[in-house]
Amino acid sequence: MTAGAAAANALLVNLTTRFIVSTAFFTVARLGVADALRDAPRSPADLAATVGADPRALARCLGALAAHGLFRELDDGRFALNEPARLLCRDVPGSYLPYALQVAGFFDSAAAFERAVRDGGTPFEHHYGTPIFEHLAQHPALGAHFDGAMQALHGIETAAMLEACDLAGATTFADIGGGNGDVLAATLARYPAMRGVLFERPAVLERTRERLAEHPAAARIDYVAGDFFAAVPVRADCYYLRHVLHDWDDAACRTILGHLAAGAPRGARVLLGEALLEPPNQAGIGRDMDLVMLQFTGGWQRSAADFATLLEDAGLDFVGVTPTASMISVVEARKR
Ligand SMILES: C[S@@+](CC[C@H](N)C(=O)[O-])C[C@H]1O[C@@H](n2cnc3c(N)ncnc32)[C@H](O)[C@@H]1O
Repeated sequence: MTAGAAAANALLVNLTTRFIVSTAFFTVARLGVADALRDAPRSPADLAATVGADPRALARCLGALAAHGLFRELDDGRFALNEPARLLCRDVPGSYLPYALQVAGFFDSAAAFERAVRDGGTPFEHHYGTPIFEHLAQHPALGAHFDGAMQALHGIETAAMLEACDLAGATTFADIGGGNGDVLAATLARYPAMRGVLFERPAVLERTRERLAEHPAAARIDYVAGDFFAAVPVRADCYYLRHVLHDWDDAACRTILGHLAAGAPRGARVLLGEALLEPPNQAGIGRDMDLVMLQFTGGWQRSAADFATLLEDAGLDFVGVTPTASMISVVEARKR
């Protein structure tokens, strides 16, 4: 067999079996294995007795995950936490567990993926009967969990954006679809003279207002409840939308940006925090996230050129792109 044929076969096998690695990951996350390893390495039998699992099956899951770099398998067969596995513990700073559980919880909807690719629509909506943000609004506990999941997945990007972008000079920073308020709180902490606005769906807004009630910058935050498909009644000189536009198709993005631009003063900065779609044939988080959007939201990842077009259509002058030390780049525009 040629090296090319072997590589082709390995790629196909890898693409076929990836799903089961993610399934093992979801299972281990749900079982709380990382927390059970917090104090010391443990044998599969000991672990299985604690978390309620079959010892051999659990050992096989952990062995495979350790081979991928999550957990460490010791010479005596015990398993230990390593840095990624520590982030799977429940109450550690920056815990990833809420996001793993979020995706695991919605994983059933992946059964509708092929239908959506064949016939259009969104697998999530085919499966649950409603678009994701309606579903979260109808199930407040899921909604609250989603806010935490966004922190788990994207929390690390907040400091990265603030390191990469100089916001000095802005008097009011408006986070549109700002979710759990992490970005707004960190921005106001960094710029003590700045005021902030959080624009969100009402239920999300109330949770965030409660969460930030004791924050040192609480008195500088205005909360605006709304629907950005109806209006964005927010006046600021700097707007931020992080992982908002990737939830929507182009027509919806034009509506959101149009409403934002209608209320923005001339010269206002508009910043989009997004994982940019990589160029053709280049692997990366943008391409994978694009499939996540296909699965859950009906939106998609975009290139800088795609964003430039959307922004210009909304009456915003595209300025440029600033990479950050995280998955997001910041696409910048100004109101004409
Ligand atoms: C993917 S989350 C990103 C949250 C936050 N910007 C972050 O980066 O963590 C998208 C956010 O858009 C909000 N959203 C969805 N539909 C909305 C609407 N019609 N009006 C206002 N906000 C909306 C959701 O509630 C959610 O918090």
